[in-house]
Amino acid sequence: MSLAQSSMSYIDQHRLCLKLRPILVGELYLARKLKNPVYVYKGGAFSAVINEGSVPTKDQISILIKNNYREVYAYAEDVDDIKENLQTALIKITRSLSVGDPLLNGTKDLKLISLNLGGLYQNPYDDQLLMLQFQSTQNLGKFLLDNKRHQPQLYQTLQRENFHFTLSQPMLSSMLLLAFMQSIHLFHEKEMENLFLASYLKDIGMAMIPDDKYDLKTLTTRDQQLLGSHADFSFDLLEGRIPLSKNYLTIIRHHHFMNDKLKELVAKSKRRRDQEIVFGVESTLVSVFDILVAMTSERPYRPGQSLFQSLDLVKKLMADDYPQEFRALVVFLKQFYKN
Ligand SMILES: [Fe+2]
Repeated sequence: MSLAQSSMSYIDQHRLCLKLRPILVGELYLARKLKNPVYVYKGGAFSAVINEGSVPTKDQISILIKNNYREVYAYAEDVDDIKENLQTALIKITRSLSVGDPLLNGTKDLKLISLNLGGLYQNPYDDQLLMLQFQSTQNLGKFLLDNKRHQPQLYQTLQRENFHFTLSQPMLSSMLLLAFMQSIHLFHEKEMENLFLASYLKDIGMAMIPDDKYDLKTLTTRDQQLLGSHADFSFDLLEGRIPLSKNYLTIIRHHHFMNDKLKELVAKSKRRRDQEIVFGVESTLVSVFDILVAMTSERPYRPGQSLFQSLDLVKKLMADDYPQEFRALVVFLKQFYKN
């Protein structure tokens, strides 16, 4: 398929604006027969890329992804159908996660949870969507703990999905955190499950930041401040809406405290010890895995670094306060990436 161009009048284009709603390209996998065409927005106009009456094919979706389209536009009735199919599929896999092939189930679940997260970014105040995300993530946490040997492969499968980093980063960092906690045998099962949830939901506040900010090649100080404020937004969005205790919500609110330490390290400025807040090992681990996964993956404004380079910085961030945990982290990562 080539990206078909449609010639529409100026007025028709404006009418379309009122009827179309954005969806993630990946969500097209959940579409059945489309009642209307699907469009991309390029060069100031909508162009139809998938015809009405058809079911989007794998090839069509792959081409859109290859052409760097993150979102496409569909008529509201098609979008509603797709969202409903996505939620039904996620509920179904959440209920039957432990029945059948764990790798297949885990892969499917990770994809659907990530796509649902995209929906939540668009509708952060939708309680039903948030609870579905919460429950399916909670279930996934238990499933991953029960399927330790499959964790590295499931992690790599999600990495290969090529989701936008706002969708993949929360899950990748949380999966790595969970695997690490399980490897050091210091946490109770319930603690691991809750920290996995807190780590995953910590970035939900990104919903409050305009999409285009995430694809900027250079960030002004103001942009950086705005992006950094997602931790506070996450806390505000989640407080009173999900069954996670205050401790975990506090971890979410402060999950970027290490990033400030990191900036000071990079700028080689001296930290003012008297103003430093002391965070526990749980917060440190949530933050460290977030940094580790972020640093080793590419961003529009910088290339990804090697695991070795990233670990060197992580060492500076945590080895003074948590030397044992840092040593365990190095051993764990070696093992995890070997699999
Ligand atoms: Fe974050």
